[in-house]
Amino acid sequence: MTQSDEQYMDSLFAEDEVLERVMEGTRKAEMPEISIAPGYGRLLTILVKTSRAQRILEIGALSGYSGICLARGLDDEGKLVSLELKPEFAEVAKQHVTEAGHGHQVEYRIGDAMESLKQLEAEGQRFDFFFIDADKGNYLNYLEYALRLANPGALIVGDNTLLRGRTTDPTRSGPAVQAVRQFNERIAQDPRLMSTMLPAYDGLAIAMVK
Ligand code: DHB
Ligand code: MG
Repeated sequence: MTQSDEQYMDSLFAEDEVLERVMEGTRKAEMPEISIAPGYGRLLTILVKTSRAQRILEIGALSGYSGICLARGLDDEGKLVSLELKPEFAEVAKQHVTEAGHGHQVEYRIGDAMESLKQLEAEGQRFDFFFIDADKGNYLNYLEYALRLANPGALIVGDNTLLRGRTTDPTRSGPAVQAVRQFNERIAQDPRLMSTMLPAYDGLAIAMVK
């Protein structure tokens, strides 16, 4: 059977035992198996490390796969704040991140991410790196909050910009599709950002706050 380009490239890498355990734990917890693609997980680590980000905000923890990829790029004193709607998901994520040796770097905030973002702004918190990977209907709102909480030069990364074909399907116009299209347009056009987009896997947006 012919492999996809993504499958071919993923097959070149040695198995990542830590992330394999996360996938297994995700299945065991009967959580959705929709973690970030492995190639993008590797990219997150590289982006955090090369940008020397000290404080990361993740919107959507799920089971901790991307949290581990982000934390791997941090210095030991660096910090990841991760927002998660569901307490049971945050519990699984915390366990996986702790098993991976990054528990001391990660703080979970549980509940509606828009409320947590409001609270972080009220606390005067600022971040050098944002990873947006939660409910797609709020993507534009999350991007606007990221811009408000960003230190100059901060990176903003968003997963699933193609929505498995729905973003580019003219017959689809549900709220999540509309929000992601608006998110993508803003990423491409906002004069405060310098951006690019990767079309592999399910699409990834990468923007730098000028
Ligand atoms: C899906 C994938 C994701 O990475 C995500 O964040 C949400 C949904 C999906 O394939 O349905
Ligand atoms: Mg995703």
